[in-house]
Amino acid sequence: MRGCGGLRTLCGSSFCGVFMKLNLAILPGDGIGVEVIAAAMRVLEHVAKKFGHTIQATYGDIGWAALDKGHKSALPEETRTLCKNSDAIFFGAVGLPDRDKTLPLQERPERVALLELRKGLFANLRHIVLPKNLKHLCPLKDEILSKGSGEIDIMIIRELTGGLYYGQPQGVTGTAPNRNAVDTMAYSEMEVRRILKVGFETARKRRKRLLSVDKANILATSGLWREIAVAMGKEYPDVQLEHMYVDNASMQLLRRPTEFDVIVTENTFGDILSDEASMLAGSIGLVPSACLGNEFLANYDPAAKSLPRATPFYEPIHGSAPDIAGKDLANPIGTILTGSMMLRYTFNLQKEADAVDAACFGVLNEGKKLTGDLGGRAKCSEVAAAVIEKI
Ligand code: IPM
Ligand code: MG
Repeated sequence: MRGCGGLRTLCGSSFCGVFMKLNLAILPGDGIGVEVIAAAMRVLEHVAKKFGHTIQATYGDIGWAALDKGHKSALPEETRTLCKNSDAIFFGAVGLPDRDKTLPLQERPERVALLELRKGLFANLRHIVLPKNLKHLCPLKDEILSKGSGEIDIMIIRELTGGLYYGQPQGVTGTAPNRNAVDTMAYSEMEVRRILKVGFETARKRRKRLLSVDKANILATSGLWREIAVAMGKEYPDVQLEHMYVDNASMQLLRRPTEFDVIVTENTFGDILSDEASMLAGSIGLVPSACLGNEFLANYDPAAKSLPRATPFYEPIHGSAPDIAGKDLANPIGTILTGSMMLRYTFNLQKEADAVDAACFGVLNEGKKLTGDLGGRAKCSEVAAAVIEKI
């Protein structure tokens, strides 16, 4: 027996089958991407089997790993096609900063592969949770961590396809020593509105608090952002909306982290704040992320159903960590939790995602199988085995 998995269905963007086939593009990429994806795939295969689903996993080359295999690009055409034809992309990491430093920015894997696959996926959800029994790993004092709810559980929603990363013009002109460099921060109303919508809707499903972060005292893009946020706030009277300048937000995150619920912000601010916030989770190795587009927006805005689809992209936020790559030392939890986000947001498999989350936090809170970044000695593969045992 099978539900309607594998087809984009009549029930909006989500899959509604009981037993489903998950058609995945798996892109381990560079550095520890390889081992964390291997660990997380073992967990996903296990949970799929347990709940009666099947995973059709097709592996693709990306990043330096693709160039090293003889491909001409860090994002080979085959990989592009694979991604286009998959329900979701499960991604490890790309980029090895020490490789060929002469390769220009525009040709480096981070840009060619990562920024390319993110196109169309404007909503990046990064979930920051400090496990109860690992509070000692958070650099903040107990008196700060015990304030309010006493828990850190923050969803950062980072705009991912606008702002400085994609704005034109961008580049360096002239000749040394008189060169000029320019990056452009640009946002349209549509871009601001759709990411704020994801923010409001996400807050509505959580503790109903939304913090919109901008730099409206200086930037034109932020002025527009704030104006739209205030107007949209009226459509969400049940959500408590606050605004903060990004410099202040970066301070308040350290001062009263337990008070944050959902943060929504533009691309560069989100990049920086999410790395800062990852320290609140105890380690950047624990933070999962989902990059979502119109398919996801359609859950809240029927008009988005007819807009172009980009394959949802799931990546841990830690990057390739070349110093520990290939040693089975990396922390796979961020990637396993990323897999759980994929079950939840692309396949609407809530029970399955809950089971993975509970197993991960069970292992973390027990404290017996922790990787080096968490003060333990467990191997990446052993952590995966411990998670599987709990599902
Ligand atoms: C991230 C990373 C990337 C980004 C880099 C590798 C391009 O820092 O995912 O946060 O800036 O988006
Ligand atoms: Mg970053």
